[in-house]
Amino acid sequence: MDKNLPIGVMDSGVGGLSVLKVLQKALPHEDFLYIGDTARTPYGQRTEAEIRAMVREMTDWLDAKGVKQLVVACNTITVLGTESIKNGYAFDVIGMSKGAELALSTTKNKKIGVMATPFTVASGAHKAAVQALDASAEVFAQGCPKFVPLIESGVFEGEAVQSAVAEYAAPLKAAGVDVVLLSCTHFPFIRPAVEAEFGEGVTVLDPAEATALQARLYLERAGLLKMQGTGHAEVCFTADAARGRAIAQHMLDTERCSFKEVSLK
Ligand code: DGL
Repeated sequence: MDKNLPIGVMDSGVGGLSVLKVLQKALPHEDFLYIGDTARTPYGQRTEAEIRAMVREMTDWLDAKGVKQLVVACNTITVLGTESIKNGYAFDVIGMSKGAELALSTTKNKKIGVMATPFTVASGAHKAAVQALDASAEVFAQGCPKFVPLIESGVFEGEAVQSAVAEYAAPLKAAGVDVVLLSCTHFPFIRPAVEAEFGEGVTVLDPAEATALQARLYLERAGLLKMQGTGHAEVCFTADAARGRAIAQHMLDTERCSFKEVSLK
């Protein structure tokens, strides 16, 4: 494996850019090849078979381009299981952190909220990860299907966002959670609206940093970490790269990125 190859980063659309931002900070010398399937987003309301087929197309595409590691910057894809995504490729596959340690070290009342896609919530993966560490913790997972279409259309604030946030926050507030995990990589785009809705006393957490640390650890162990040079990210979308680029400007240092529309075929 050549350490000069980029790190592959994959999401159903623009959400993984919130992880790419953290990766670029944690791994400043690395190059990244990002693929966002904006032509077929959102994934979170699809069937497992559909998601697996689309993920296979993206991983084959990244493999053909050449990457030294794959970071799955999407919770919905991660809950399929990173082992099954790796499935014979030479590169290691790092999934999104479930944020269990982060949530448990932050909560005081052991009532943890999870905001995610319906697919992620149905998997029960975040609840299981928290309860594997502390069986007495309570986890309240809320599917938030209205968020991803808003974020994909570049809407991060205003009436539509506020009313969707209020709708999904209500059951978590009623349950008395004191931390909320943003367990969909799209949701950091609307983090200010989520924080405003929950108010003081509830801490909103993003597990992207724990994910980036895991990616770094794997590279170090494999002797693949780049120690010099300024990294660059090639950000590719399967549709509407101009919109993707405009959205990226809200999240990334676009000076260190180039943008492209690609076909996975
Ligand atoms: N960004 C995604 C996640 O972390 C998925 C959004 C979607 O396509 O529904 O789950």
